Amino acid sequence: MTFTGKRILLGVSGGIAAYKAAELVRRLVSVRARVKVVMTRAAQEFMGPLTFQALSGEKVGTALFGPGSDPLEHVSLGQEVDAIVLAPATANLIGKLAAGIGDDLLTTIMLAATKPILVCPAMNDQMWANPVVQENLDRLQARGFQVMAPESGDLACGAVGLGRLPEPETIVEALARLVSKQDFAGRRVLVTAGPTHEDLDPVRFLTNRSSGKMGYALARMAWRRGAEVCLISGPTALAPPYGVERLMVRSAQDMLKAVRQRFPKVDALLMAAAVGDYRPTHAKARKIKRGPQEEQFQLTPNPDILKEMGALKKRQVVVGFAAETHDLEDEARRKLAAKNLDLIVANDVNRPDAGFQVDTNEVTIIARQGEPLRLPLLTKEEVAEIILDRVVELLTAREQGTTGA
Ligand code: C5P
Repeated sequence: MTFTGKRILLGVSGGIAAYKAAELVRRLVSVRARVKVVMTRAAQEFMGPLTFQALSGEKVGTALFGPGSDPLEHVSLGQEVDAIVLAPATANLIGKLAAGIGDDLLTTIMLAATKPILVCPAMNDQMWANPVVQENLDRLQARGFQVMAPESGDLACGAVGLGRLPEPETIVEALARLVSKQDFAGRRVLVTAGPTHEDLDPVRFLTNRSSGKMGYALARMAWRRGAEVCLISGPTALAPPYGVERLMVRSAQDMLKAVRQRFPKVDALLMAAAVGDYRPTHAKARKIKRGPQEEQFQLTPNPDILKEMGALKKRQVVVGFAAETHDLEDEARRKLAAKNLDLIVANDVNRPDAGFQVDTNEVTIIARQGEPLRLPLLTKEEVAEIILDRVVELLTAREQGTTGA
C-alpha cells in the first residue's frame, strides 16, 4: 500500500481551514501513514495541539524554544520523513518560505528540509489574487515545491471565490505521488474504463455491468507513479482521479475516436473498458412507444478498438482485458495473439468477488512469453500496481533494446 510505513510531516498554519487538517491526519493514519504534526502559533488559535496529538498518536511540535521543545527537531524533522505537506498554507507562511525566513519551528524545519514538499494554500480570494502571493508561489515551485491549487467556492469570510482548501481525500491523493516510486516519470499512459452506452432511442441504450473501477485504479496508480495519464471513460459515477486528464465518452464509436487521437503519443495503452461489441443498427430519433407488438432490433458489430490499436502499435505497450465466463486462459491467449497485445489480464466474471462492480479482482496476467501470473484475490489498486510493474518492465526492456517479453 502506498502509504504503509511512510512518515509524513504535516505543517499546519493559522487559517480557518486548520480544522480540515484534523481530518487530513485521520485519513493519513487510516491509510497507515505515520504523521507528525507541527503547528504555527496562529494555527494554535484555531485548533488545539491535543486534537492533532490524539489523532496522530504523536507529540505535536509547537515551538522552537521553551518547555517541551526538542533542540534538534528543527533540523532533523524535514529530513527524516518521506514527505512534507503544508495544509493549510497561509499567505504569510508562503511568504516566509519564499523569503527564506525561519522564525518559528515550522519555518525553521522547512529551511533545513530535504524531502518532497506539497503546499496547499488556503486563504481569502483577494489574498489569493494578490500578485505577491502568486509570485511567492512561483518561487516555491521553481525550487521544486509542489503546489496544489485551492478550490473555488464559499469561503469562511463570506466571499465566494478561489481559496478553499481542497478536501482531505484530494490532498491525500496528491501526496500519494510524493511518496510513490516514480518509475513512470516522463511516460504517457492512456487508460480506458467503464462501459459504453449504445443508443436504442433518445432515452434507452444497451450497456453492460462494468463500473469503471479497474480502469480508474490503473489511471490513479499510474499517475501516482509519475505518469502523465489520460483516462478515456465511458459513463460511470466515479470521480475523476486527481491529476489525471479525463475524457468522458458514451459509445464505442466515440471511444474509438478518442483512443485513435491519443494513441500515437503514448507509451502504453491499457484498455480496461468493457466496450460494447454491438450497437443498434438504427437508433430511433423518437422514443419507442409501448405497444402490444414485438419489437425487433438489429445489431451491428462495433469496431474492435483494441485490435485496431494492436495493428497500429509501434513502440507502445498495449494491454487488453478479457472478462470471460468459460475457458478463461485459452480465450485470453487467443485474444493476446489475435489482437497483437503485449499483455492480457484475464478475469473470471462468474465469481461474485471479482470482475464487475466490486472493489476486488482475481486475475491472471498473460504475456507473450513465459508462464501466466495467477494472482490471488486482491484489491483493484493492488492488481493495478502489479499490471503496471509488468508494463514498466516491458517499457524498460524496449528502451534498452531487449524484447522484455
Ligand atoms: O474480444 P473482447 O471484447 O472480449 O476483448 C476484450 C478486450 O478488448 C478489452 O480489453 C476491451 O477493452 C477491448 N475491446 C475493444 N473494442 C471492442 C470490444 C472490446 O477494444 N469493441
